[in-house]
Amino acid sequence: MELTQTAQAVLALGMLTGGAWAGRAAWQRLQLSRAKHRSLAGHARWAKRIAGWIPRLAYGAEQALACDDAPADVPARRRAAGQRLAADFAAACPQGLALTAAAKPAISDLQFTAAYRVPFPFADWVQQALPSSTMVSRSKGVMLEDVDGNEWFDLTGAYGVNLFGQDFYKRCIDEGAARVRALGPVLGWLHPIAAANARRLCEISGLDEVSFHMSGTEAVMQAVRLARYHTGRSHVVRFAGAYHGWWDDVQPGPGNPLPAERTYTLADMSERTLQVLRSRRDIACVLVNPLQALHPNRPAPGDSALVAGGRSADAGSAHRQAYGQWLQRLQQVCQQQGIVFILDEVFLGFRLAPGGAQQYFGVQADLVTYGKTLGGGLPVGVLCGRAALMRRFRPERPADPCFARGTFNSHPYVMGAMQVFLEQIEAPEIQALYEDLDTTWDQRAAALNARLEGAGLPVRVANLSSVWTVLYTQPSRYHWMLQYYLREQRLALAWVGSGRLIFSLNYSAADFEAVAERFVAAAQAMQADGWWWHDGVRSNRDLQRSFLRELLAARWRPAAANPRPAAEAPLGAPVPAAEQGLAAAMLNGPNAGHWAVPESFPDRTVHRAAGAAVPSSTA
Ligand SMILES: Cc1ncc(COP(=O)(O)O)c(C=O)c1O
Repeated sequence: MELTQTAQAVLALGMLTGGAWAGRAAWQRLQLSRAKHRSLAGHARWAKRIAGWIPRLAYGAEQALACDDAPADVPARRRAAGQRLAADFAAACPQGLALTAAAKPAISDLQFTAAYRVPFPFADWVQQALPSSTMVSRSKGVMLEDVDGNEWFDLTGAYGVNLFGQDFYKRCIDEGAARVRALGPVLGWLHPIAAANARRLCEISGLDEVSFHMSGTEAVMQAVRLARYHTGRSHVVRFAGAYHGWWDDVQPGPGNPLPAERTYTLADMSERTLQVLRSRRDIACVLVNPLQALHPNRPAPGDSALVAGGRSADAGSAHRQAYGQWLQRLQQVCQQQGIVFILDEVFLGFRLAPGGAQQYFGVQADLVTYGKTLGGGLPVGVLCGRAALMRRFRPERPADPCFARGTFNSHPYVMGAMQVFLEQIEAPEIQALYEDLDTTWDQRAAALNARLEGAGLPVRVANLSSVWTVLYTQPSRYHWMLQYYLREQRLALAWVGSGRLIFSLNYSAADFEAVAERFVAAAQAMQADGWWWHDGVRSNRDLQRSFLRELLAARWRPAAANPRPAAEAPLGAPVPAAEQGLAAAMLNGPNAGHWAVPESFPDRTVHRAAGAAVPSSTA
């Protein structure tokens, strides 16, 4: 049957339209692919697939000391050093170790952080050979005191909460509690302090309204939900490596059992990202964690990722300026495209400037999240936003609100502590801390780097104001060991180790000098103990390749890659005479098996030379 002319015309038009639509969809897909960062941080699905593929690989006592094929005298030095470090800690922290060990089976978070303190092949061995204590009982100034009475310089920053020193937060909590005590923990009503806090936060953020939540994660959830509600669009754009809490949609990839179906993870500081924002119609919001200025497109640095090489960071005022300009362009494109621009200041809010990252980088967001320090030491998440975006209902669609509640939101005690925090940051002595803030911390970082360089140590620091990360200038499989040398110097790090040092702004010049001295001493000891032995030839890439070969071997020969647990490893030859005293203490102590030593390491060398990655001596 022949088609009429009209039908032919309709068909042709349909084909043309369909073709154009398919062509546009394909073009958009291509644009999206090109806007992803080329690393795994930019490819959440691949990262997850690969993470699922990585097999268990657990070094035994012998391999843990010699996985870089160092000549036999080097592992011997490392072994003696490890025994000394463990003995020091065991002697100094008996109660802390015992309490931590007793608490660990019942506190899943302790098990998780203990397992991810170091690269996973070392994790089993380290947990037994260099166990950690997590029990503290006091804080004062910039110091923490553990349950055994040892004093530590606090470089953990309480996950970023501690901006002005723990004593400041004790005051916020005590004074805040006094202000609301008459009411008590009454929920569902508001103490008038909540309204005062909201007014002040509107001034600080330059926005119209506020909602209170219990955590930064929840504030981010609410920001994204509102953006979707008001734009009618589905997708969130986040940037490669950026952390926004642990909610599914902002944490695609490893760590999240579900794929994040409505999240685009794009490259930071990239023209291609701007093209995607200009061309797609399904993007509700762009979510920015300004801490990424320190390492755009890379995840937060943690020692568990130091499997082979080093890490890098983008510090310095020129880079900060470039990042600020990027945010300004991003904001402009979002505005043009009707995309909600969300600045997630949960971590950095109040740390860089009194007006937060908005002030520091010269941008005005549609929605801003705060948390951590803003609670004056108590748990909190806050969302500030433009009135039109914060509204949770539409009068013209009364049955279609945007739901958000939370039993403990606006808790009177949190509101009390927050009010004291907001008042206190106006005080002249706190305002003075903000003066020349970057200059102060940049100078401190530069001074420490000069000392490290002068001492010939392969360690440097990079910083975004008072948030620091430790970098390593030569290839090694053992950079993560620095956290145990810093521990010996009583410098307290969070479980991510040397990846993130967070200073509170009450560190005086003298406090910092003491930290710098201890830091250099730690690195010197680590160097003397042979952990940074290097053959002068192998690059980071070579080390990564050899680690990959070990993984491949473990994938195909799991038994060979996973020797008996270190606890069962045979005790080998005695340690050199000089270390026998301490060694005896360790070998007879609870960690004895974990410092076990074989006669020598000949098998490894032979196997490596032959291209086989797994040493037979541990099979
Ligand atoms: C930028 C940012 N957003 C959100 C969160 C999540 O906050 P919380 O841990 O209070 O849920 C964090 C926590 O570190 C963060 O750094």
